[in-house]
Amino acid sequence: MNEIEIHGKKFIPYIAFEEIEHAIKEMANKVYDEYKDETPIFIGVLNGVVMFMSDFLKQYPGNCEISFLKLKSYEGTESTGKIQIQMDIPMNVEGRHVIILEDIVDTGNTLVELHRILQEKKVKSLKVATLLFKPDAYKKDLEVDLVGISIPDKFVVGYGLDFDGYGRNLPDIYQIKS
Ligand code: IMP
Ligand code: MG
Repeated sequence: MNEIEIHGKKFIPYIAFEEIEHAIKEMANKVYDEYKDETPIFIGVLNGVVMFMSDFLKQYPGNCEISFLKLKSYEGTESTGKIQIQMDIPMNVEGRHVIILEDIVDTGNTLVELHRILQEKKVKSLKVATLLFKPDAYKKDLEVDLVGISIPDKFVVGYGLDFDGYGRNLPDIYQIKS
């Protein structure tokens, strides 16, 4: 892995795919331990979740359904705090066990909004599993149920995460160079 440049900003190699894969296996096993007698719905938050969700599902050995939701909160490298639903969940989730899959929890604004949206839909239970978590940036009281890897409050790209639309296709995670 080498240093890369996106939109004029430099990024350094940070988390290799092998480490990501290992964290995801552990997450999938933990979720399975809790839900093996149920058929949960995994709801991925687009677009950032694409790589994580596909690798997570391949490691999840139980019955499940999947769906998606699309939100937008980021512009460039800053969270705007305003969250818009760009695509609502296209299935009925009332009375179901739902596990939201997120690429990253940063300020927690999105997490709070996701809880509000899913509670409104009267789900039976709700948990959030996030591949990455920035504890120093997190500003909410709500507990983050399952975290793959905790990282410092620095912008990252790759493995589904973008910088203004670019970098999602990188198989590894890169950190902004400062
Ligand atoms: P939050 O609402 O501040 O917790 O931010 C949540 C969303 O912002 C995530 O689901 C990502 O889509 C995006 N995001 C937060 N931090 C980063 C980052 O370091 N790189 C790329 N996207 C990020
Ligand atoms: Mg996201």
